[in-house]
Amino acid sequence: MGLLDGRVAVITGAGRGIGRACALTFVREGARVVINDVDLEPLAEARAECEAIRADSATTHVGSVAKGADTDDLMRTAVEAFGQLDILINNAGVTRDKMCHLLSDEWWDLVIDVNLRGTFNCIRSASPYLRDVAKGEIERDGQPRWNRKVVNFFSTAAIRGNPGQISYTAAKMGNVGITRTVAQEWARFGINVNAVAPGFTNTRLTQSKARGGEMGVPEEQRQATLKKIPMGRFGEPEDIANAVLFFASPLSDYITGQTINVSGGMQIP
Ligand SMILES: NC(=O)c1ccc[n+]([C@@H]2O[C@H](COP(=O)([O-])OP(=O)(O)OC[C@H]3O[C@@H](n4cnc5c(N)ncnc54)[C@H](O)[C@@H]3O)[C@@H](O)[C@H]2O)c1
Repeated sequence: MGLLDGRVAVITGAGRGIGRACALTFVREGARVVINDVDLEPLAEARAECEAIRADSATTHVGSVAKGADTDDLMRTAVEAFGQLDILINNAGVTRDKMCHLLSDEWWDLVIDVNLRGTFNCIRSASPYLRDVAKGEIERDGQPRWNRKVVNFFSTAAIRGNPGQISYTAAKMGNVGITRTVAQEWARFGINVNAVAPGFTNTRLTQSKARGGEMGVPEEQRQATLKKIPMGRFGEPEDIANAVLFFASPLSDYITGQTINVSGGMQIP
């Protein structure tokens, strides 16, 4: 018996990092997963890892959460491949860090489009399969088949503010607003909407980067951050996936509109 037996989950940005860890965790708990990313190669690796846990547990979708046509296609893919959609994990994210006075329109738009608009696009595209299906079940049977789940992503860096990340922090706190709003809109349909804020977690986003690189964090900043984490280590993608699993599973059926930090005890104001 797994916590997600019989469930179908869409996980965006699942080719790497936290999204891939969520996919593997979910498959171990009995779910079938549709894993999305913009990059084909890591996505194929992630799928092979899912299939190694259980045959026919995963299908892939290549497309950008920033485009509504792609997210419509993503949700359709889930229903065509597996017949239903129960869980949406809005994990896809990017950074393009610059101090406010140096940030271009192009980088502002990219970060907002992926991290914030992407969450909206996916929720709207999923609504026929989450909200409308649950509504039909309530009208027919008096209750939904089971609680359906949306898990959004924000960031401890966004809660406290982070020099060089004006667009990223704005987008991530926007996801808190989306979470609280959709939680209230969809509670009556038995759909839980919650959000996870990873602390500093070992992925491509936080790898050590040279000055001027597109993604990553300068090594001196990584070391300064490590000193602020009482547990004495950075997070691993699996640490975050376990919190996401809680919000995706029946264990959280009476919790909605909430946020949780997964940060090794780092104090966030
Ligand atoms: N790593 C951290 O310390 C940390 C901290 C706070 C929040 N987060 C958030 O966690 C989530 C996962 O990040 P990660 O650290 O695993 O990063 P990652 O770079 O390892 O993985 C993110 C994945 O998203 C994909 N992606 C990027 N743009 C996309 C798009 N338009 N459509 C679909 N997929 C897209 C990437 O190709 C990549 O595979 C993100 O929302 C990120 O902002 C991470």
